[in-house]
Amino acid sequence: MIPKILIIGACGQIGSELTIKLRLKHGNENVIASDIREGDEFVVKSGPFEILDATNLDALEDVIQYYEITEVYLMAAMLSATSERFPMKGWNLNMETLFNVLNLAKDGKIDKIFWPSSIAVFGPTTPKFDTPQHTIMEPATVYGISKQTGERWCEYYHKRYGVDVRSLRYPGLLSYKTLPGGGTTDYAIDIFHEALNNKTYECFLSKDTSLPMMYMEDAIDATIKIMSADSKRIKVRSSYNLAAISFTPEELYLSIKNHIPEFTISYQPDFRQAIADSWPSSIDDSKAREDWGWENNYNLEEITEIMIDGLSPKRIIEFEG
Ligand code: SER
Repeated sequence: MIPKILIIGACGQIGSELTIKLRLKHGNENVIASDIREGDEFVVKSGPFEILDATNLDALEDVIQYYEITEVYLMAAMLSATSERFPMKGWNLNMETLFNVLNLAKDGKIDKIFWPSSIAVFGPTTPKFDTPQHTIMEPATVYGISKQTGERWCEYYHKRYGVDVRSLRYPGLLSYKTLPGGGTTDYAIDIFHEALNNKTYECFLSKDTSLPMMYMEDAIDATIKIMSADSKRIKVRSSYNLAAISFTPEELYLSIKNHIPEFTISYQPDFRQAIADSWPSSIDDSKAREDWGWENNYNLEEITEIMIDGLSPKRIIEFEG
C-alpha cells in the first residue's frame, strides 16, 4: 500500500531533501510538505504544501484528516545552539510537537512516525569514543535533554500503546542544498561557504574537536530505510545510534585546502565549544547495521568534493542557465 506521508518541517535542512526523495519514491501527491512558513521553493511547488504549526494539535489533526495521512516525519526542531539561547522555546517546540504526533498515533489517527534524535542525547559522562547504543546518558544541553526525554517517550508509547515510532540519532549532517539553522555542527557547512566565497574562515570550535558527521544523502537513505523496514526488525524503540565518519575542524580544513590551496583558517571557540565538548567523538552504530541493514556510503574526501562542486559558482550558473 502506498503511504500518505506528512512531513513537518519540510523546508528545513533535512526536511527539504527528505521531501524530494520521498516524492520521487511515492509520488508527489502522496507526500504532503508542511512548515511554519514557506521556504524552499522546490518543496513548496513540487507537491502539496501546507503552512502548519505542529504545536497546534487541532491544526495538525485537520491536515492529517484532510489528506488521510498514514505516516508522519516530524523534522521540525530547535537545534542545540539556538536552544541554549532560548531554553523554554526549544523545550516547548521539541516536546509539544512530539507529544502531538505520538498522541495522534496512540488514538489510531496515524500508523507510523519518524522522529529524529541526535548525538546530543549523550553527555560529558558518556564514553567518548565508539559510544555504544546503550550507555550512560546525561545530556548537558537543552536540546540534548529534549531529545533524551523524547526518546524515553517514544519507547514508552511503543511499549505501552503499540505506537510504531522509529528514530535515529543523527550526527552532524552536511549538505550544500539547504543551510542548517542553529546547530553546533553547522561549522562544517559554513566552512565550505567561506572557503569558496572569502578563502578564509574563523571557526567557532577548536581545531581538534572531533565530532561524528555524515553526508545528508546517507542520513536520508537511513531514514527511508528504517521507515521501510519490517516492524519486527526495529528492536530499538528509543533511537538508533547512526554513524558514518568523524573529523575535526583541522582535518576538514586540510581536506578543503587540497582543493583550494589559498584557503586559511583561524580558531575562535565560542559558547558552542562547551556543547561540542559534551558530545561523543565517534559512535558505535553496529545495532542499526545488524537490525535493519544500515550502511553508509560517503567518506570525508567524497563529501568535500561534492560540497565544493555543489557550492561552486560555476555550478550555480550552469544550473540557472
Ligand atoms: N547537528 C545538531 C546540532 O548541532 C545535532 O543534532 O545541534
